[in-house]
Amino acid sequence: MTKIPLTRRPVSAERSDAIRNAVRGAEEMPYGAHIATQADTDAFTALLIDPQISDPIYSLPKPISRDAVSGFIDRHLQERARGEGLLMVMDDGEEAAAGYYDIQFWPEWAACELGGAIRTNRQGAHTGMDGAASAFDWLFDEIGVDLICETAARDNVRTAKLLEHIGFRYMGEIESELPGGGVRPSHYWEMTKADWATTRK
Ligand SMILES: CC(C)(COP(=O)(O)OP(=O)(O)OC[C@H]1O[C@@H](n2cnc3c(N)ncnc32)[C@H](O)[C@@H]1OP(=O)(O)O)[C@@H](O)C(=O)NCCC(=O)NCCS
Repeated sequence: MTKIPLTRRPVSAERSDAIRNAVRGAEEMPYGAHIATQADTDAFTALLIDPQISDPIYSLPKPISRDAVSGFIDRHLQERARGEGLLMVMDDGEEAAAGYYDIQFWPEWAACELGGAIRTNRQGAHTGMDGAASAFDWLFDEIGVDLICETAARDNVRTAKLLEHIGFRYMGEIESELPGGGVRPSHYWEMTKADWATTRK
């Protein structure tokens, strides 16, 4: 298993505390995403039960079930209380949630990893790209991280295209730790706040 992020620049206690506090206080993200609570369990399960959504994502519990999703939501509420993780769900009134963001933070390095998905009937129209770009703005500007890292399965062409189009730096292959044990080979990318500012000009 490869420990991420690969780049680790320690920040002051004040900086890391500010990131923890921002994570603890976060309630919404761009694109109408809100903190996932148990009230979202059915809609979130309906999104993830689609293997086109959940199969490529290493950080999800497998197999997907209502209980597993409920536990995943609880774990993230505990991570949020520590300032180390956020799970945000988008709802558009359909039975299945419209999408989600899952973010793990390393406040001591002002770094985070963002994962997520959008419902299949919303894919392929640059919604994923726009949603990711808005999330990156929010993470750098509102939460205050300096580095975002991303992983994707070797065959996840859309994610690779999306990240490289947006300006992420490809740093090679790593082994991602699966929640149920074992590892999955992943491609790995990083983006700094300074790189993002240049890309956005
Ligand atoms: C990954 C995901 C968020 C991308 O969102 P999306 O709205 O489908 O993708 P976009 O329309 O923004 O397109 C992203 C890139 O993939 C390309 N693409 C879109 N559909 C594609 C397809 N079926 N095959 C190949 N490339 C495709 C787009 O052309 C674009 O590349 P470009 O910038 O070079 O034109 C979305 O497909 C998804 O939720 N997938 C399932 C879960 C997943 O893989 N999550 C990421 C795991 S880290």
